[in-house]
Amino acid sequence: MITIQEAKPIVAKYITQEHLLKHCLAVQAAMEEAARYFGENPEYWGAIGYLHDIDFERFPEEHCQHVEELLRPEGVAEEDIRAVISHGYGLVSDVEPQSTMEKMLFTVDELTGIIMATALMRPTGITDLTVKSVNKKFKDKRFTAKCNRDVIRQGCEMLAMDLSEVMNICIHGMQQYAQPLGLMGSGS
Ligand SMILES: [Fe+2]
Repeated sequence: MITIQEAKPIVAKYITQEHLLKHCLAVQAAMEEAARYFGENPEYWGAIGYLHDIDFERFPEEHCQHVEELLRPEGVAEEDIRAVISHGYGLVSDVEPQSTMEKMLFTVDELTGIIMATALMRPTGITDLTVKSVNKKFKDKRFTAKCNRDVIRQGCEMLAMDLSEVMNICIHGMQQYAQPLGLMGSGS
């Protein structure tokens, strides 16, 4: 079970681009909140979230195919490697999310992107962002078109949760990292 202290230096080795690191942090934040929601371990879920895109900067065209070779030498447990790979299910991996943690990771990966973009457009950032605002942007297919809505819907189905409930979890998690995510609003 990886910790955030262990995940940070591994990510620092393989991810350098600012926007990718912010994405990792956003997913960490959402996963921590999701763990709290389910009464699970926020530190563990957050660490998996932070780590999930480990091979993306080096291998953007072969995403999820290089996770094992990067994480095994770091001593990361097989179940954690599996969880990371499962987030690309159906697109770049055939490892199906099974645990609630894996299903949540699969769902929030794309959803945090929409929330981030929505918050960036507002003068108050994410500080008072509501599910309603995010939902509006979710329905606007041209807005952050690269965030795959079908994947998010599929994830909610796996979780048997309403989209609005998962949005609420993501928003609350990300609000706690508003400053490092650059989502405090004007002037942040
Ligand atoms: Fe991601």
